[in-house]
Amino acid sequence: MNKVCAIFGGSRGIGKAVAQLLAQKGYHLAIIARNLDAAKATASQLGAGHLALSCDVAKEQDVQDTFEEIEKNLGHVNCLVNAAGINRDGLLLRTKTEDMISQLNINLLGSMLTCKAGIKSMIQHQGGAIVNIGSIVGHKGNSGQSVYSASKEGLVGFSRSLAKEVGRKKIRINVIAPGFIRTDMTSGLKEDQLKTMIPLGRFGEPHEVAQAVLFLLESPYITGHVLVLDGGVQLLI
Ligand code: NAI
Repeated sequence: MNKVCAIFGGSRGIGKAVAQLLAQKGYHLAIIARNLDAAKATASQLGAGHLALSCDVAKEQDVQDTFEEIEKNLGHVNCLVNAAGINRDGLLLRTKTEDMISQLNINLLGSMLTCKAGIKSMIQHQGGAIVNIGSIVGHKGNSGQSVYSASKEGLVGFSRSLAKEVGRKKIRINVIAPGFIRTDMTSGLKEDQLKTMIPLGRFGEPHEVAQAVLFLLESPYITGHVLVLDGGVQLLI
């Protein structure tokens, strides 16, 4: 079967590492990010046969147009990876409502919209697989990340429910909950101080998350699962 995968947030960080691995495995990819030039730059590094698109996951029309464009150019989507996300860390009392809304809109509503559009295509074409990127912070909570945590744990409840809803249609939905992964999102953090909280003693690498995404995309009997990928952080907190 032709493997067509839409990767939201595919221009950099975890999404880019997923794109690099899936391209090696013969998937046809749509690299989707807010910034078209960034998506194009990543797609061009992957070789021929991949598509770059710009989309704001929080906008339903953008998401629908994106899926139409992918179908037109690559065929129907049978894999979806939701790696688009933002954080606006801060104590709740200092968090502006607009920053609450943008985290919920991008991290949670955005994945709901892409899943809705994705499963529509998958139902018509004999199933598919979805991996949503959550966070260990959703499970455990973290001071200064209450809204971000809510968006990520909301994604777990959403994914488990959807897995029950569409399992009979041969569509699987799983979540990966990473700990500290070395990307732009964590570039402001001090690894030297934080590594004492990590039993494996280091931040994870984006390609290590990508391996887990590939595993879940290609494991036909796993659905509704949350795979924690955190170097052991959850053992200590
Ligand atoms: P990153 O900041 O390097 O990349 C984020 C990606 O999301 C970019 O491609 C960006 O274009 C895209 N994006 C942001 N807002 C968007 C929007 N409105 N519409 C479309 N695309 C949008 O982040 P990173 O570290 O690669 O994170 C990927 C996912 O993993 C995020 O959901 C993040 O919350 C999650 N995560 C990251 C961890 C880390 O330690 N880096 C830990 C746990 C979870």
